[in-house]
Amino acid sequence: TGFVTLDSGYKNTGATKSAITFLDGEKGILNYRGYSIEDLAAKATFLEVAYLLIYGELPTQEQYAEFEDSIRRHTIVNEGVRAIFDNFPVNAHPMATLSSLVSALSAFYPDSYDEKGKDDRHIIRLLAKLPTIASWSYKKAQGHPVNYPKNDLDYCSNFLNMMFSLPVEKYEVDPVVASALNTLLILHADHEQNCSTSTVRLVGSSQANLYSSISAGISALWGPLHGGANQEVIEMLEAIKADGGDVSKYIDMAKNAKTTGFRLFGFGHRVYKNFDPRAKIIKKAADDVLTKLGVNDPVLEIAKGLEEAALNDEYFVARKLYPNVDFYSGIIYRALGIPTNMFTVMFAIGRLPGWIAQWKEMRAMKEPIGRPRQIYTGATLRDFVPMEQR
Ligand code: CMC
Repeated sequence: TGFVTLDSGYKNTGATKSAITFLDGEKGILNYRGYSIEDLAAKATFLEVAYLLIYGELPTQEQYAEFEDSIRRHTIVNEGVRAIFDNFPVNAHPMATLSSLVSALSAFYPDSYDEKGKDDRHIIRLLAKLPTIASWSYKKAQGHPVNYPKNDLDYCSNFLNMMFSLPVEKYEVDPVVASALNTLLILHADHEQNCSTSTVRLVGSSQANLYSSISAGISALWGPLHGGANQEVIEMLEAIKADGGDVSKYIDMAKNAKTTGFRLFGFGHRVYKNFDPRAKIIKKAADDVLTKLGVNDPVLEIAKGLEEAALNDEYFVARKLYPNVDFYSGIIYRALGIPTNMFTVMFAIGRLPGWIAQWKEMRAMKEPIGRPRQIYTGATLRDFVPMEQR
């Protein structure tokens, strides 16, 4: 039925028009709504960037105040969701918990699927509640009571406070930590039609509600080839350290990826074939943050050694494999005290505005339901054989 072009992995297939994020993989350019990632990472707050992505323009002071205030007023999560969370195992992966509870939110807000045209409320709820839910996983793993949001704090500080403050001692958010988190979230905020974003758009194209669409995006992000790579990178660097710190052995294993099945996590990108501009900013931020916090992480040296060895190796050069956003992000998250199994959750908090913006754009453009075709390679028509004759 008609002519079908096969493009496994959609390497050359444009799925949509979009006015949100511009990416030039050859030149290493990434702009959100026309603003360079370098400029935004240095000058904006994460919520400003969220507003920009979702509504198309940088907010005025008034718009920003209203946006931030409505997010503050929705940070508490329904105790019913909390009751669901309470029954999750203590060692549940925080990404499993996050995608499940975001999906559960649709049940608590039936207007997300019963009534159309109220998207803005759900957008605010998601932005407000994701950090709260994320912090619960950490608290449970620690055996500590969860913290309720403190709405006199800004977005990043509020999250850090929910993560790290304890009822028994005074905790003050370190501004260096909050600012590093702000930068990391901005760098992750959108990346055009990547796997999780395409998932959000595809699920949303069936007119599924926003919570369900975002939950699907979180699941897609979890995979080690996508957002899950940030956890894999640190685990790999730790393994190299435990193994005596010899990076060449791992370079050799990665060069033989076809037989060893080992890939250098945090290396390579579908679109960037020169460098990942986010990785450049993060590498510098990693140095700055560790110095400011007085952290001496031996894993940073291993990462640098591995990068240098790879960049000088003909296998990586020939395939244009460079460090991506995930290569150094985990080193910063570690310095901020975030546990390794929460790294991908941090990516999800950062990517949320991008997913929302893309979902909203897809709806506004009244895109048709996403429905790829295939090339059938199975059996031709054959007669049914009754079970007793098989
Ligand atoms: N280590 C070793 N070899 C690699 C790697 C790697 N990390 N990445 C790609 N290659 C090789 C691959 O084996 C292939 O070799 P050949 O031409 O001999 O068959 C060639 O490079 C092209 O790779 P590909 O798998 O066809 O490229 P892709 O565009 O399908 O995959 C990728 C992109 C990011 C999934 C891949 O580079 C990868 O698996 N990297 C490691 C995981 C990772 O760091 N993911 C995070 C991506 S950035 C964060 C985000 O998701 O936004």
